[in-house]
Amino acid sequence: MTISPLAELSTHVTALLNRIEQAVTLEELLAEEPFIVGKRSILSTLQKSLGALAPEDRKDAGAQLQAARRGVEEAYATRRTMLEEASRALVLEADRLDLGDVVVTSVSVPLAVGHPGIVAVTQRQLEDVFVTMGFAVSDGPEVESDWYNFEALNIPPAHPARGLWDTFYVDLGEPETVVLRTHTSPTQIHLMESAVASDSLPIHRVMPGRCYRRDTPDARHLAAFHQIEGLVVDRGITFADLAGVIETFTHAYFGADISSRLRPAFFPFTEPSAEFEITCTICRGEGCRTCSQTGWIELGGCGMLDPAVLEAVGIDGDEWSGFAFGFGIDRCAQMRHQIADMRALIDNDVRFLRQFS
Ligand code: PHE
Repeated sequence: MTISPLAELSTHVTALLNRIEQAVTLEELLAEEPFIVGKRSILSTLQKSLGALAPEDRKDAGAQLQAARRGVEEAYATRRTMLEEASRALVLEADRLDLGDVVVTSVSVPLAVGHPGIVAVTQRQLEDVFVTMGFAVSDGPEVESDWYNFEALNIPPAHPARGLWDTFYVDLGEPETVVLRTHTSPTQIHLMESAVASDSLPIHRVMPGRCYRRDTPDARHLAAFHQIEGLVVDRGITFADLAGVIETFTHAYFGADISSRLRPAFFPFTEPSAEFEITCTICRGEGCRTCSQTGWIELGGCGMLDPAVLEAVGIDGDEWSGFAFGFGIDRCAQMRHQIADMRALIDNDVRFLRQFS
């Protein structure tokens, strides 16, 4: 009968555990590592000698050695963690600043880094598309006087069109009526006024921003939402330019298989006016519930600048013409990402928001 190479296993294990205990600094322990758990450990030597055993004994001996190795490795890891903490405490103590009552601590909790929300991302993508087409980007105030939000846009007091844009009124105790803007169109007026004042026509601008309406939120409406307005004032601008810009934008943002169409509509500040629709992105034009089986989804309004608007801002309509359009940024995000219910945008449910990181 041969003597098993593992006859002295427990003695070896005890010796290894002692070596682990005797290391009093991290450096000492690390220096011992190859002899305790590494290739130069007695356990590795024993492992090799198992090959000499009869096959029927080998399995048992292997398991025994494996258990011994695991015990030693655990003891080594525990000691190592302890010595690492001790050495870290020493470093901290040495680095300690004497600031009286102020204690300097180290922070090891990783900071969660956020990301822009889906509406902000969509707004930037839309801006990028229009910038590539030669438009510059401006913004305008969210709180407007009645003049900018309505009257200069050819919507006089008591005009029935005001019903479309019912809003929140701001009571500042001023004689003037002040509202939360119901669309980005008042920014058109600001831009045209300042272009006239600084003699800097033509204008090719897009104006994104937040708008408000007295709407009850539902799957497709929010009381606070976002629009992007477009304005071109130049010489010889026609409806064909408007249609071309809308179609180019639609392909650039939604893809080659999505097109646009214009349908006659009414807006007091454009003449003629149109609603612009795009191929439904849910059914790709086949007809579905979202598009009420029409294959089209309305995105916004547009039209040629009404002579009354040009007159209100002092632009000579014989020399200049132009067009404007405005559509919902939230609606674009909804269409591009197939978000069934728009209220998800304001619910602050991080499980929803994280999908767009
Ligand atoms: N401001 C309009 C709306 O919010 C959209 C529009 C913009 C229409 C520009 C025509 C021209 O409904």
